[in-house]
Amino acid sequence: MRTYLVTGGAGFIGSNYIHYMFKKYGDEIRIINVDALTYAGNPANLKDIENRDNYTFIKADITDRAAIEKIFAENDIDRVVHFAAESHVDRSIEDPEIFVRTNVLGTQIMLNCAKKAWENEDGSFKEGKKFLHVSTDEVYGSLSDPEDYFYETTPYDPHSPYSASKASSDFIVKAYMDTYKFPANITNCSNNYGPYQFPEKLIPLMINNALNGRKLPVYGDGKNVRDWLYVEDHAKGIDLVQEKGRLFETYNIGGHNEKQNIEIVNLVIETLLELLPEDDERRKNVGKHLITYVTDRKGHDRRYAIAPDKIRAEIGWEPETMFAEGIKKTIKWYLENEEWMKNVTSGDYMKYYEEMYKDR
Ligand code: NAD
Ligand code: DAU
Repeated sequence: MRTYLVTGGAGFIGSNYIHYMFKKYGDEIRIINVDALTYAGNPANLKDIENRDNYTFIKADITDRAAIEKIFAENDIDRVVHFAAESHVDRSIEDPEIFVRTNVLGTQIMLNCAKKAWENEDGSFKEGKKFLHVSTDEVYGSLSDPEDYFYETTPYDPHSPYSASKASSDFIVKAYMDTYKFPANITNCSNNYGPYQFPEKLIPLMINNALNGRKLPVYGDGKNVRDWLYVEDHAKGIDLVQEKGRLFETYNIGGHNEKQNIEIVNLVIETLLELLPEDDERRKNVGKHLITYVTDRKGHDRRYAIAPDKIRAEIGWEPETMFAEGIKKTIKWYLENEEWMKNVTSGDYMKYYEEMYKDR
């Protein structure tokens, strides 16, 4: 039975990936999920699988070398899928240090522990072992020409502390591949959306604010463009890269689904009004009057757009969920999981929200 070590599996994409993998492989695989349970990690995201015999959760920080070494020593890990990171751009602007620590040092520690566990005496690596580093399209910077796209060959040009830390982590992975022939891949994906996303990110934040009659804070002119992908399609892409990708290669993942932020915000409002029953109390809060243009994000990247040509041609990956369907599915999920939203927005969340948005 193949054993996966997933880092950051209690977060948004990690938990969706674990759900996807159990749906696809059932009892054929074993998953060990290592997560520090920061504000973004939520065991409730994995409630329905926590009792499986082939699933283990370990609370540990990826910067804790001894803890990670112990996991490799006690388990014969075949695959690492490395999601754990600080992931929110606005937080990185306020406090870059933890981004460098987790994203750069944490990645290096994961790589080194895997290298130590997988390396043969002659410097080669045990058969079948693979490390997949989950990265972002933000490492490529911002596109100004509307005809331009991010390719795997696009030079790195990160701007925020978050994207700079992810770019650094990509370079550390590349260094391990080039120097040691360490068996790895990197994926650079565009903006994900779907269930279990923490409401600091655009789509769940707008859903939650609208349902509570709070203003919908659109940064700048609202015309920044992001390339949105349904999270399950990302999970599928990651699995296919590990199954069929060429070792040492980078694969961009994205679905040619570019939207301006203001289009997304309008669509969220329209979809909420379509899905909420007439007699639902929350309906009266929702409307376009809530849209409020606020001070722009510092260094705000204008446009991201992935060219997924390589993953399509080499691996046959295509997104399955079109945006119109995916956004409806997503909003329906948030409406049906009000408790989940209440739980993640209790505690420190409102303090974060007040701090982040008070001067905007
Ligand atoms: P997230 O913030 O929702 O989840 C991150 C998870 O990592 C949480 O469970 C958190 O507890 C855990 N974590 C954080 N620091 C840790 C540490 N030091 N040790 C162990 N665990 C730690 O993030 P996400 O949106 O699910 O993103 C996952 C990965 O995908 C990240 O590497 C991110 O850069 C990348 N990515 C995200 C997107 C996106 O649109 N969200 C797109 C492309 C790539
Ligand atoms: O492109 C992939 C990246 O997408 C990932 O690597 C990051 O982890 C992920 O957070 C995401 O980064 P963005 O900065 O693009 O996502 P965010 O949801 O924070 O913002 C999306 C856009 O919406 C961005 O242009 C900023 C804008 N925005 C965001 C928030 C939270 C607003 O206008 N208002 C808001 O309140």
